[in-house]
Amino acid sequence: MKRHLISAADLTRDDAVLILDTAEEMARVADRPIKKLPTLRGRTVVNLFFEDSTRTRISFEAAAKRLSADVINFSAKGSSVSKGESLKDTALTLEAMGADAVVIRHHASGAPHRLATSGWIKGSVVNAGDGTHEHPTQALLDAFTMRRHLAGAADGGPTHHRGPGWGYLPAVAGGGTGRDLSGRRITVVGDILHSRVARSNVHLLHTLGAEVTLIAPPTLLPIGVETWPCEVGYDLDAVLPKSDAVMMLRVQSERMNAAFFPTEREYARRYGLDGERMSRMPEHAIVMHPGPMNRGMEITAEVADSPRCTAVEQVANGVSIRMAVLYLLLGGAEPAPSTSRTEESK
Ligand code: NCD
Repeated sequence: MKRHLISAADLTRDDAVLILDTAEEMARVADRPIKKLPTLRGRTVVNLFFEDSTRTRISFEAAAKRLSADVINFSAKGSSVSKGESLKDTALTLEAMGADAVVIRHHASGAPHRLATSGWIKGSVVNAGDGTHEHPTQALLDAFTMRRHLAGAADGGPTHHRGPGWGYLPAVAGGGTGRDLSGRRITVVGDILHSRVARSNVHLLHTLGAEVTLIAPPTLLPIGVETWPCEVGYDLDAVLPKSDAVMMLRVQSERMNAAFFPTEREYARRYGLDGERMSRMPEHAIVMHPGPMNRGMEITAEVADSPRCTAVEQVANGVSIRMAVLYLLLGGAEPAPSTSRTEESK
């Protein structure tokens, strides 16, 4: 693994599978009565949020706490950023506090990359969503959710890639290495233009061997989308019967400075998922949404609340994925100090 996680496009297949398999083990910890591991004790994780967030922020916080790290939550609102403090001065402050990892969400595409390459901070940088660019941990938790529903446990055997530090995670019965998404057909629908979730998903799912189709009105597709490793279409009804997962994206009105479609009703009629459309998906297929949902726009309440919709499960899986990412980036896989082992075996 590299030191930072900035883009899903940077992950090799081995990196991605390692994170997904590690998250599988982290999920087992969440099923225990005591959901905590001592792995990152004494380490400091800073959540640096310049943009609003519900799921991503609390999920990174829960993940860091379950690994026993100290967590500092920084939100730009109410901080000196509103007095005009720059990213550089904010970063230098965090460095002075001894941050081992900085999880950053920023409205500017490229801000996490700047932080990682500037030399302002020494720790790991994790991109929690930058502008319309990338959101790699969202793509990872989406792939994790898909793998759980769609990938057969081909080998069922234990994973073979564990480092020496794995001793104090629970043993894996039926590991994840044989479970991949090769050939699975994933359809991503809606506001691709403003979606960092779509971009990260396309890269990661391609790396994992899935076939991705983007469906959107032409006005909500980014320039250059034809160079992305996926298919692009405009007709949702044509692809539904062939989809293993249908991921609905939020229409991001806050990023829209013009009219991208005639009316909300018109959008919902052509690109929204309702019960009738969902019934045309294969029986095993799932409906996904990263949240927050615009009920009545891209997804009806009937679909959002149906057992086929994995939106809430995606949130739970997000904690396991973010635990895995922090664990791997912060060297949790290094040999554990003996005190930690003792505590864990109690
Ligand atoms: C997404 C985001 O912020 O990019 N949400 C999330 O992280 N769960 C998608 C969105 O805002 O629509």
